[in-house]
Amino acid sequence: MDVLRLCACITVGLLACGSGGWAFAQAQNAGSQATIEKTFPHSNKCKRCHERVYEEWETSPLAKSIHSPAFRVSLEAYISSAGGKDKALCFRCHAPHVREFADHVELFVEQAKVGNPSLDGVACSQCHLIKQVDRAKHPPEPKYEIGGKTLYGPYKDFVQNLAHQSMESNLFQKSDLCLNCHQSVPSAMNLGKANDLLGNWDQSRAVKSGKECQTCHMPQQVGESANGEKKRTIANHSFPGRIGKLRQEAAKLDVQTKVDGDKTTVVVKVQSLVPHNLPATHPAWASVVLDLEIKGKNLKTVFSDKRVYGRTYVDAKGQPTIFDFEAVKVAHDTVLKPEETREETFTFPTPKDTKTFDVEVGLSYGPLNGPATFLQRVEAESSQGSQDPVFQPIEIVKRMENVPVGK
Ligand code: HEC
Ligand code: HEC
Ligand code: HEC
Ligand code: HEC
Ligand code: HEC
Repeated sequence: MDVLRLCACITVGLLACGSGGWAFAQAQNAGSQATIEKTFPHSNKCKRCHERVYEEWETSPLAKSIHSPAFRVSLEAYISSAGGKDKALCFRCHAPHVREFADHVELFVEQAKVGNPSLDGVACSQCHLIKQVDRAKHPPEPKYEIGGKTLYGPYKDFVQNLAHQSMESNLFQKSDLCLNCHQSVPSAMNLGKANDLLGNWDQSRAVKSGKECQTCHMPQQVGESANGEKKRTIANHSFPGRIGKLRQEAAKLDVQTKVDGDKTTVVVKVQSLVPHNLPATHPAWASVVLDLEIKGKNLKTVFSDKRVYGRTYVDAKGQPTIFDFEAVKVAHDTVLKPEETREETFTFPTPKDTKTFDVEVGLSYGPLNGPATFLQRVEAESSQGSQDPVFQPIEIVKRMENVPVGK
């Protein structure tokens, strides 16, 4: 390879290079990754002593924050979009060590594109090296303490160990730690006040009664914080949300059915018990769906309908978009607000030739949604194709009742 091409490879980036350039770039990126991991030790290093924590975290969505086909495809769409010059943008939350390694952003992009990154996303040191969160900034900004050997955590009375120094920080028991990634998305700043993922969460009864994000999403238990240490209060690191039992505490459904001759009316009260918006509105296609199904004679479905909770957006050309980085305006907002009760009325012909019928009502996270080209790209990028979990709904709560037709 001549010098000229070598230079071109470095400036143009990886994907444009021939095989010689590729090998060179890989060697360079391995070096780049090693540099980054000197400052932000890889989660594998923590696993040795914090096996329980590691195993819980590994099952959480946080451990897959730059892995999903939907992330890959939308990252690509963002980078190739007119506003996509700041290549680090998505990684500031999905792999936040990019904040300290802006020069290495190509490594992050390349690893995310490969689909099976060895680089951590939101892992141990990405949280435990945060010294401070500046809430005056929008979104709030983390300040990392790098170059030392100190990890921040909840304990004052920590046991000493040979791998790192420990330091108590009450930030770890406060929502502030989470807000720097969960409150708003900088790419959607065009939306102004509508760029708020959680809503008026700080006015909720739960928060006023002293609950923090960790109370529900990192529930406390008793166990070993490091292998072989004495049991104490620890926090669950599986981050229950879409995955896990917390879902059952998300909402209550109250169903009232009234048969009035040929016409039947079902009124469903959806009471959100969540102290923030449901769903959180990034990615922009996120939705929660209320499904109604009426089963008549031989349990055949005779009527079905649904309501969708989420936000829809339009871009600068007035076209609908599923990408918040393209959105300039909210078209519709049906998100369930913190602790809101929503009433939905469904009317349909009373099922015929049967003494009773079933009313089935379910609330679930909706599957991935968007234009066919986007869905096809995600399917093509997934090793599971159309079986990728992102195409499946996730049940939150369900109610079923049997209703007599007669008087
Ligand atoms: C550095 C950014 C960052 C910080 C800090 C952060 N998160 Fe997250 N969180 C993410 C990202 C990115 C995802 C999505 C991962 C994915 O699915 O790709 C996520 C996912 C989650 C989920 C799963 C959501 C679902 O749909 O199931 C929960 C719950 C969660 N975070 C809670 C928390 C809590 C609690 C804190 C504070 C202790 C916190 N997060 C701090 C970035 C962050
Ligand atoms: C301010 C922090 C932040 C920024 C910046 C951000 N995200 Fe996210 N992202 C999150 C959080 C937090 C979640 C988890 C949301 C949830 O489950 O409610 C998430 C979830 C996602 C998901 C769904 C989970 C998954 O991994 O498939 C996709 C896709 C995604 N983000 C893509 C992007 C892209 C593309 C960008 C850049 C244009 C971006 N995000 C920028 C914080 C951020
Ligand atoms: C999204 C941020 C986040 C990530 C990622 C994260 N932690 Fe934590 N960790 C916390 C918070 C917050 C607490 C304190 C929770 C509390 O006390 O309520 C904590 C507590 C701890 C503790 C104290 C003991 C315990 O088990 O609660 C240890 C040890 C720990 N984390 C290690 C790790 C390791 C190892 C990883 C990676 C496998 C990791 N953490 C990933 C936020 C995080
Ligand atoms: C050689 C074993 C060892 C390794 C490796 C190790 N730790 Fe620890 N860590 C410990 C011990 C022991 C404690 C004390 C536990 C206690 O006090 O109950 C601890 C405590 C912690 C705490 C709590 C600190 C506090 O004051 O609240 C955090 C957070 C933590 N470790 C994170 C990590 C992370 C992140 C990594 C990987 C970068 C890591 N540890 C690697 C042994 C280790
Ligand atoms: C009182 C308990 C509670 C508190 C406090 C709480 N949440 Fe939640 N959260 C829930 C429940 C319940 C759900 C919905 C069920 C589920 O997904 O498990 C949820 C869902 C989520 C989801 C996934 C849903 C989605 O639409 O993507 C994220 C992300 C999340 N919460 C983040 C946070 C953050 C960040 C905070 C702190 C500002 C917080 N939560 C505070 C109970 C709580």
